[in-house]
Amino acid sequence: MKQVDLLYTGKAKSVYRTDEPGIYIMKFRDDITAFDGEKKDTLSGKGRYNAEVSTFFFRYLEENGIRTHYIRSIEPGTIAVRGLEMIPLEVIVRNVAAGSIVRNYPFKEGEPLDPPVIVIDFKSDTHHDPMLNDDLIYALNLATPEELDQIKATALAINDILREYLDARGITLVDFKLEFGRYNGEILVGDEISMDSMRLWDKETGASLDKDVYRFNKGDVMETYAGVAKRILSPPGES
Ligand code: C5P
Repeated sequence: MKQVDLLYTGKAKSVYRTDEPGIYIMKFRDDITAFDGEKKDTLSGKGRYNAEVSTFFFRYLEENGIRTHYIRSIEPGTIAVRGLEMIPLEVIVRNVAAGSIVRNYPFKEGEPLDPPVIVIDFKSDTHHDPMLNDDLIYALNLATPEELDQIKATALAINDILREYLDARGITLVDFKLEFGRYNGEILVGDEISMDSMRLWDKETGASLDKDVYRFNKGDVMETYAGVAKRILSPPGES
């Protein structure tokens, strides 16, 4: 398979066409951004850790009956994916109150959310990702009621799978963001599942093990990403 031309470039990943129809190459770059792109840096090696963790979670989800865009890994930081018709929704599942939900609503940081809360934002740089509700999603023709039901059910199923996996490794899954796309009449998980798209807290110390370290200058980002990637990729109790 050969890489042909650049199809799309986002804040931290680039997608290329290949000479095989329907197969794309996704490159996790070393760029990191926060606060709607206001803060940005390049951290050598970051892309590799995010690709490694995303690959691991995509494979693990597939083993647990969840369909994703992941096909195979090509080289460190680069994966082959199915070409989805992306749905411009950021589907966030929250188990513990943190981040924007604490800023915008009267939740206390660290308060458990049981049952988990799903928040769906409109993925639109020009509109700064505003929060949607079901009626807005239908009025904007972003998804049908059947698709939205399936997206929410899949997001909750993924939450159960990842929460249990991380819990066994001493990590609380505070919240995470998913993106979905259409593929041959099905809805598949796309984009990435990594330290850039999740909030992870050490169960013992409460320390952030994710992009909040970068957002709020809480420590060495690369050291944190390397450490959490190792914990995620190792059996429980081994890292
Ligand atoms: O900022 P907020 O608290 O709404 O983020 C919730 C979760 O979604 C966090 O884990 C964050 O990293 C992720 N997120 C993301 N991409 C965005 C917005 C949020 O991955 N554009």
